[in-house]
Amino acid sequence: MAVPLADRLRARIDAEGPIPVSTFVEAALYDEHDGFYVVGGRAGRRGDFLTAPEVGPLFGAVISRAIDSWWESAGRPETFTVVEHGAGPGTLARTVMAAAGACLAAGALRWVMVEPSAAQREAHPSGAHLHSLAQVDDEFVERVDVVFANELLDNLPFDIVARRGDRGVVLDVDVEGGQFVLVDGPDTAPPPIADGGAVPRIDAAVSWIVAQRARYADARIVVFDYMATIEELDNRKGGWLRAFRDHEQVDDWLADPGRVDITIDLPLDEFLLLGPSSVCLQADFLQSHGIEQLVEQGRAAWHAGAAAGDLAALRGRSRVREAEALLDPAGFGGFFVLEWGA
Ligand SMILES: C[S@@+](CC[C@H](N)C(=O)[O-])C[C@H]1O[C@@H](n2cnc3c(N)ncnc32)[C@H](O)[C@@H]1O
Repeated sequence: MAVPLADRLRARIDAEGPIPVSTFVEAALYDEHDGFYVVGGRAGRRGDFLTAPEVGPLFGAVISRAIDSWWESAGRPETFTVVEHGAGPGTLARTVMAAAGACLAAGALRWVMVEPSAAQREAHPSGAHLHSLAQVDDEFVERVDVVFANELLDNLPFDIVARRGDRGVVLDVDVEGGQFVLVDGPDTAPPPIADGGAVPRIDAAVSWIVAQRARYADARIVVFDYMATIEELDNRKGGWLRAFRDHEQVDDWLADPGRVDITIDLPLDEFLLLGPSSVCLQADFLQSHGIEQLVEQGRAAWHAGAAAGDLAALRGRSRVREAEALLDPAGFGGFFVLEWGA
């Protein structure tokens, strides 16, 4: 039988010494045998955590309107390609198709779902406009109009930088008494936080943005994620890192690598250094792309069909509830939407 990931990591640390947090997180989430996403961890009501597309079809319906407006401003090209990175089980693509916007109706929309996890790719929808890839294939995606990522960047490997007086240290993962623990690793520039504090360092997420911009110079890059300033993260006293299994928050994120999702609130400051062309809260983005009109239509359908309790009426009522969740400033509404090349 294959050696469990936790045992392999312990053996590696015994042999080589402490490893960077990013190495631990990369293995915990994406190890080819035991990674959380490799063995089937996923978003969704029956999954491990809920994301905006998984709240219901409303998020995809708003994204469909955004796509239509971007397609219109590009002069309604014959083909309009959206590459969605970290597509998970493909729920956003499914709901955008169901919304049947103008770009789709004109036969122009080509939606490419990029998802490294084979278990999740198996759940992807299929159809003339939909393409599912493990990673971007250059021959396939010769022209890209929009690069889209919802809750991808918070799931890329990160490091942790701590402040020790006037020094900064990068934390490593070591083993003590059989348990994984954090220890001080190499020196680094001191982060601008209080002594004893610690914040994430997100080299992989920053490199991802830089790589997309270099690869698709003309594309609009749109990322949705939870973010806060370094100062706010520092005030959260480590509460910026969370681990989940089956919708339950897990206390010790180091205890069971591969069995839990590990995610962080991203430091907004690092993305601002990359000069985004637009920064706004998710609630504002959804409002600027017509969520209120969709909710109004939902309300009207509910009032028209409530007595009969027909499906359109129930869907209409559900829209009202979904909008509350998507616009909640303490939840999805408080996420950031950053765009480059807009
Ligand atoms: C939190 S899930 C988000 C899923 C989906 N976007 C949603 O909102 O429900 C993050 C997904 O990103 C995928 N992922 C991880 N690294 C990736 C990469 N380098 N490129 C594309 N997808 C990646 C993971 O396998 C996982 O399915």
